[in-house]
Amino acid sequence: MNTYKINSVENTLRALHQDAKKDYMRIGKGIVKSIFRPMQPSDFEHAYLPISKEQGVSIRQLIVQNEYKNVVEFGTSFGISTIYLADAVRQTGGKVITTELLESKATRAIQNISKAGLNDYVEVRIGDAMETLKGHTDPIDFLFLDGWKDLYLPLFQLLEPQFHANTIIYADNMDMAGTQFYGNYVLGKKQNYTSRMIDGGKAMLTACAA
Ligand SMILES: C[S@@+](CC[C@H](N)C(=O)[O-])C[C@H]1O[C@@H](n2cnc3c(N)ncnc32)[C@H](O)[C@@H]1O
Repeated sequence: MNTYKINSVENTLRALHQDAKKDYMRIGKGIVKSIFRPMQPSDFEHAYLPISKEQGVSIRQLIVQNEYKNVVEFGTSFGISTIYLADAVRQTGGKVITTELLESKATRAIQNISKAGLNDYVEVRIGDAMETLKGHTDPIDFLFLDGWKDLYLPLFQLLEPQFHANTIIYADNMDMAGTQFYGNYVLGKKQNYTSRMIDGGKAMLTACAA
């Protein structure tokens, strides 16, 4: 049953962005846990770490304007970005496949996507994206990278065979350690990809060459 209702998307997003404002406390606790060892995703089990409202609105617009249908997301967290992606593909007649390592976060994301009335447009895969997206054979129109930064490059390479001439890759947090491997790879393949920094230099948008 299609559960989409006008306003449910914006009301859910407003409440989630509001709650995410308390992330600084949750992130602080995560950083304390990782003082004596490398950080790991479970240190931030209670934190949203979301894209901003402005990013979400511009990503949604980009997908709708270009009529992208097949969207893949790496890093669901509590589903803020997924709701923007799902609201976009609701309008283009597409589908989002999103993947989250931590079961507790994926469960909350599923609840939030459902509150927004967008569950018909999303498949949430729980587990390591390198496993959950292995064997993904459908073409990808829009890839959103926002999971663990060291995995941007291997995940991109895993999915690269599914790109086509109009595929766009949006990589968030390109100012964070770990993303340089991905950045160097994509920027080095000038014949295949054209990239530009967006959102104040925080994110990189890459287009596949025609
Ligand atoms: C920055 S947050 C995602 C925020 C989300 N895109 C948003 O804007 O609302 C990154 C998420 O990636 C998840 N993650 C980290 N490593 C992962 C992996 N190997 N596979 C899937 N998800 C992973 C983390 O648990 C975390 O919830």
